Amino acid sequence: MENENIISMPRIGDQAPSFEAVTTQGKISFPNDFKGKWVILFSHPADFTPVCTSEFMTFGRMAKEFEALNCQLIGLSIDGLYSHIAWLRTIQEKIEYRGMKNIEVKFPLIEDVSMNVASKYGMIQPGESKTQAVRAVFFIDPKGIIRAIIYYPLALGRNFDEIKRALIGLQTVDAFSVALPADWRPGDEVIVPTAGSCGVAKERMNDHSGAITCHDWFFCTKPLPKEEVEAKLGEKL
Ligand code: BEZ
Repeated sequence: MENENIISMPRIGDQAPSFEAVTTQGKISFPNDFKGKWVILFSHPADFTPVCTSEFMTFGRMAKEFEALNCQLIGLSIDGLYSHIAWLRTIQEKIEYRGMKNIEVKFPLIEDVSMNVASKYGMIQPGESKTQAVRAVFFIDPKGIIRAIIYYPLALGRNFDEIKRALIGLQTVDAFSVALPADWRPGDEVIVPTAGSCGVAKERMNDHSGAITCHDWFFCTKPLPKEEVEAKLGEKL
């Protein structure tokens, strides 16, 4: 029978599509089960493959760091539940890689044999593969809005430091109403946003501390100490 799933490509700013799914941690109803949390929903091509294994070990090792940032990780591939369980058990019991060992993946991994969720999230990209999900990463905020999306092809593993940096960056943007320059990390200066907006003009005009530096009229920055970011995000960074 034809796959009846309607393929959609959600975009930044869209409400994240809702779904019900079976996972390695039981059934989930998205987004209802995750209200008030950030969610990183990510797909991988297939269980028992090497790049995916290295990624799951890395995410498994970092899971507590994401938890501390009020972020739930949810994985997905179009494999079945028993494959997921066997693969995660193999990872925990047998695989030692780059100093990582005995990695227990405690976050939910969705079984999506029907491709229901993968289709809703545009994770099947037929030019790359008709039968495996690409390496997609959706950053979904506590209101259920998609805030950033990263896609990687099958053969290239993701950079998990960048995924964490992007999450911290999005949370910082929200908490301080700023924009963040290239390669920003907590402690770096931030961009006083929206050139031309009244708020910014007022902030610049009222800033007698000399804290705001304007490189030109459209490009102004100010310090944002790491401790302030940590205090707002509630986590040592
Ligand atoms: C991997 O995870 O190693 C992989 C999966 C699908 C295609 C190529 C590589």
